[in-house]
Amino acid sequence: MSTPAPATSPLASAPGFFAGPLLANPYPLYATLRASNPVFTVPVPADVGAGVFLLTRHADVQASLRDVRLSADRRRADAIARNRAILPRQFLGEDSVLRSMLMMDAPDHTRVRSLVNKAFTPRRVAELRPRIEAIANDLLAAPAAAGRMDVIGDLGAPLPAIVIAELLGVPPEDHPKFRAWAAQIVATPAAIASGAASDAFEKGFESLSGYLRGVIAARRREPRNDLISALVAAQEDRDALTDGELLATAILLLLAGHETTTNLIGNGTLALLQHPDELARLRAEPELLKSAIEEMLRFDSPVQATLRAATEPVEFGGVTLDKGALVICGIGAANRDPAAFEEPDRFDVARRDNRHLSFGFGAHFCLGAPLARLEGEIAFRALLEQFPTLALSGAPITHRPNPILRGLQSLEVYA
Ligand code: HEM
Repeated sequence: MSTPAPATSPLASAPGFFAGPLLANPYPLYATLRASNPVFTVPVPADVGAGVFLLTRHADVQASLRDVRLSADRRRADAIARNRAILPRQFLGEDSVLRSMLMMDAPDHTRVRSLVNKAFTPRRVAELRPRIEAIANDLLAAPAAAGRMDVIGDLGAPLPAIVIAELLGVPPEDHPKFRAWAAQIVATPAAIASGAASDAFEKGFESLSGYLRGVIAARRREPRNDLISALVAAQEDRDALTDGELLATAILLLLAGHETTTNLIGNGTLALLQHPDELARLRAEPELLKSAIEEMLRFDSPVQATLRAATEPVEFGGVTLDKGALVICGIGAANRDPAAFEEPDRFDVARRDNRHLSFGFGAHFCLGAPLARLEGEIAFRALLEQFPTLALSGAPITHRPNPILRGLQSLEVYA
């Protein structure tokens, strides 16, 4: 296991995003940037080439996500290509298991995504409803008896982890170690950005990939009714998915569907509890649940930003970004843009015409959005029905040190 050189990431110099007040509430800074400097040049060392830019306007973020001059392969940005030392090998190498569709452009992206779409069908998702309800009820039984709960530890974290593990076909007895590896991996971005060692990431990744390789081999020998078997079948049918792509897809589905949904449940519950009138309205009009979940996604987005690399010069708001620029597409900022939303800082469970960008936009639009919405609907319905007097416990509310995957460490409530 190699220990990365003590280098500093370009993102580490973006002041304060990883700590303190900005982590607790980045929205006032987004508003300032959007109004005065909507194509913000992130201060980075001079050797970072074409530089790093943060977009905060809804129109710019949406345009960036559908612009074919901006590649999803982040390694094409100078800021990443020239700072290889600080990133784990698994992130950059040609054999990288992170070379999933998330990092691909057409035509590879189109090929892999359409194959995965065939396996991850709306029907497969809809069929999960009774099972997800059962898992949520199981998880809520002990907190209901105790009269208090940690919404993250008791529901938000385990629910999506169990669902995605079951969907992929990981046996229940392996769920705890599976979750531990995933937690090791997603906890790493802040450590990478601050230049800290990424051993935990490497270890988590090695263990998870080794384990999934075993599951893939087993399903190849003996298919079951699970997503990995469906992916193996898709691969064999048309010989159109390499072994590396199959593994990268399994890892992507696991990671993409895990902490994101946890953060929807955590951030969404916090928003409701901090806006008692809206919570009361939702209790009185449960048919608003769907729009309430869209509003939770908008108001405090689980994914605050995604990255793109300029493959040729691109202009935003009169600023030309050179080839090699790293573009931070500010989803969380776009979702509070007054040009796109009336009273964007108001949490409104009945908001209409909610064109939030929380699941991205364009070719990479979240493949798991139907599953995330279903899990959210089941989790919030169960919480509202089973806990009629849900209230904050008064325990301090702290965010995880990750400005991109935005979520709470814990959320203690009286149930
Ligand atoms: C509330 C929960 C979720 C949020 C906020 C979310 C958000 C996102 C966003 C913003 C993207 C686009 C990234 C980009 O353009 O660079 C994305 C892509 C993706 N998401 Fe999700 N996601 C969630 C849940 C899930 C779930 C449950 C799964 C699957 C089990 C999933 C699977 C994926 C995949 C496979 C992609 C890549 C699609 C592509 O590159 O074509 N996501 N997600």
